[in-house]
Amino acid sequence: MGFPWCSDKYIFQKKIKAMQIYPSMKMAELIQYDFELLAVIQRLKIPFGFKEKSIETVCNEEDIDIDFFLNLVRWFHNRDSMPGETLMHHPVKGIIRYLRSTHSCYIDYQIPRIESEIIQLENNEAAIGSKMQLLLKFFREYISEFTVHINMEEQKVFPYILQLDENLGLDEPTQEFIKLSQQYSIRNFLEEHSDIEEKLSDLRNIMLKYMSPPSNNCAFTNLLIEIFRMGKDLEDHTLLEEKVLLPQVLKLEDEFHRKFPQQ
Ligand SMILES: [Fe+2]
Repeated sequence: MGFPWCSDKYIFQKKIKAMQIYPSMKMAELIQYDFELLAVIQRLKIPFGFKEKSIETVCNEEDIDIDFFLNLVRWFHNRDSMPGETLMHHPVKGIIRYLRSTHSCYIDYQIPRIESEIIQLENNEAAIGSKMQLLLKFFREYISEFTVHINMEEQKVFPYILQLDENLGLDEPTQEFIKLSQQYSIRNFLEEHSDIEEKLSDLRNIMLKYMSPPSNNCAFTNLLIEIFRMGKDLEDHTLLEEKVLLPQVLKLEDEFHRKFPQQ
């Protein structure tokens, strides 16, 4: 029996960490090396069935900017730099499309899935001897806070950014946008941007510290894994919003006021 750090598996994992991602690499190979990148594939709505196609071919076929794709997957894979350094140079439209797609993944799939898992556990409460009803109440409160947060971005923040970007390309800004820009700045968003990951972390703490189903309860453990996974996803999402999108919009606003100083 060898030491774990000498095993093939360990060496393979070290190789994964050092993976270089380049345009001629096969898309299926990329995902096999790091399945966490499936989140990017899903949010960019890239269909499966990659066959032997390269990243470059798939991006061309799906009309996705290859540099944007590479910078996104490199950041998700390496995690050794802040996303802003490379992703900030891409048009805001692309990042917003990505963030919107992430929102619908949370609202249409991940949140209802976690909710239904809690309901199932609640139905078996006697079997696991825990307080699932309280957990469900807590999670439903979280859903309403989360929905308010998402709606604010979808209905107020993203439309403002898209209009700002569009108006910057015009000879004269529209009256509608002039009015909006006098009332709103992306700095307001920063003040309003609440931490939606924090409450999820409270939920994990309650489950870990104050509930006592046995750890071999697959359903409970699986629910905990799902909640951890969603928390990690939300952290990435917030980083993209605050470290990529926000600084970009601050620059666009400066540009707007330089180009149209009278506004
Ligand atoms: Fe968001």
